[in-house]
Amino acid sequence: MKRASTVLVPPEEMEKQRQFQELVYTKNIGFAAEQGRKPLAFVRTFGCQMNEHDSEKISGMLEKMGYGFCDSFEDADVIIMNTCCVRENAEEKVFGHIGSLKSLKRRKPWLVTAVCGCMTEQPHIVEEIRKKYKNVDLVFGTHNLHRLPELLFKVLDSGEHVYETSRTSGEVAEGVPVKRGGNIHAWVTVMYGCNNYCTYCIVPYVRGHERSRRPEDILEEVKKLCGIGYSEITLLGQNVNSYGKDLPEPVDFADLLRLICENTSIPRIRFMTSHPKDISDRLIAVMAEFPQICNQLHLPVQSGSTGLLKRMNRHYTREQYLETVKKVREQNPGIALTTDIIVGFPGETDEDFEDTLSLVEQVRFDQAYTFIYSRREGTPAAKYPDQVPQDVVKERFDRLLALQNRISKEINDGYLGEVVEVLCEGRSKTNLSRYTGRTGGNKIVNFRSPSDVTGKLVTVKIENVQTFFLEGTVLEVLS
Ligand code: 5AD
Ligand code: SF4
Repeated sequence: MKRASTVLVPPEEMEKQRQFQELVYTKNIGFAAEQGRKPLAFVRTFGCQMNEHDSEKISGMLEKMGYGFCDSFEDADVIIMNTCCVRENAEEKVFGHIGSLKSLKRRKPWLVTAVCGCMTEQPHIVEEIRKKYKNVDLVFGTHNLHRLPELLFKVLDSGEHVYETSRTSGEVAEGVPVKRGGNIHAWVTVMYGCNNYCTYCIVPYVRGHERSRRPEDILEEVKKLCGIGYSEITLLGQNVNSYGKDLPEPVDFADLLRLICENTSIPRIRFMTSHPKDISDRLIAVMAEFPQICNQLHLPVQSGSTGLLKRMNRHYTREQYLETVKKVREQNPGIALTTDIIVGFPGETDEDFEDTLSLVEQVRFDQAYTFIYSRREGTPAAKYPDQVPQDVVKERFDRLLALQNRISKEINDGYLGEVVEVLCEGRSKTNLSRYTGRTGGNKIVNFRSPSDVTGKLVTVKIENVQTFFLEGTVLEVLS
């Protein structure tokens, strides 16, 4: 059944924001004249790829407002902290930073500090900031990111605090400027929000219900990225397999992938995240049909125990998950599979945990992102009895990690002596005499090359392997 249609932020509203952009720009010209330099912004991102991409939009708007960029709190005239609340330790880190900025504000009274993102969509967090962190001038949320020019103008103009979150239930804003972090790989949002309500997860409460972007807008963005030389995109959504359910036309994620593959020349396409309950045969088939769709799938399992999966509200059993993996592998031989796993969900017994270990052994994921369960206020699981004692959780977590690291290394061992195709992303940050890039399967490859092959597709002979990356020497430049 179709859900209520996605609502676009009206063009008049986007125009209004452009006008506020101009107003801040004018103020910043004045600032530059007074101080003899451009004002600088520092955008600090916590959390997932969705947040990283939101920060690119924040930076895009700031650039249009006349800001330059710096990478330290000390040098900044505007600090924006784009926060995550999926786990408690991410929140604690943010509060630590905000607290430590109090003295900076005393030294630089014109400094504007803003906090945005998932954390600020929780009313109790906004209250805490209001009460204890007066050095924070601006709080905005995930749904009104596009209103940053107006909100920042208000702060600069009035010198007052501005707190504005959750004004709408989440419209889709098209046309927000983006300052991308790289010029080879780009994030492209295909949908916002999540309707799944896994019982441990805060995301649906802070990111709102699912809203898909229109296929024509996504296609347009990808075409533009191709036109300016991008070689790889990752299509983003909390659950990309729900794509299109809220759109008036009959379109799903498999159709969207086909549309992009057939109408653009982008060499590589990735996507995340896929919910196992929604992965369709059509999607698996499209992945097999188009070589530009990378042979890689992130498919969070969360637990190997059917009982626990039920209490997590995941809507699949262990057996169904394994069946999906089998189907995916049959049609996409050699596909690299990655997953997310939570350890210590309330009520997790030794048997449940053994089920997780045995599933990991059975599937042999290329990599698993493992998380200790974090109790999130407002989610159903926060009230579940039988929270698992910390020492038990820690012991299980270490066992899982050791198992997965062993498997990742064994899988990587299989690459020794092989030749792989790598899209070079530039020089390795840890060793400037090497280049770095990824295979279609998303393996990091650090390699030697006699010439600068940044942005090029190359073949690399693998000579050494580690748990998290491969090493080798370039053989041939393909593009
Ligand atoms: N505690 C621990 N991990 C969580 N995740 C989501 N919510 C929680 C939580 N409360 C993990 C899930 C998800 C990933 C993005 O974060 O594994 O797939
Ligand atoms: Fe959270 Fe589940 Fe939605 Fe993922 S699918 S964002 S884990 S509620």
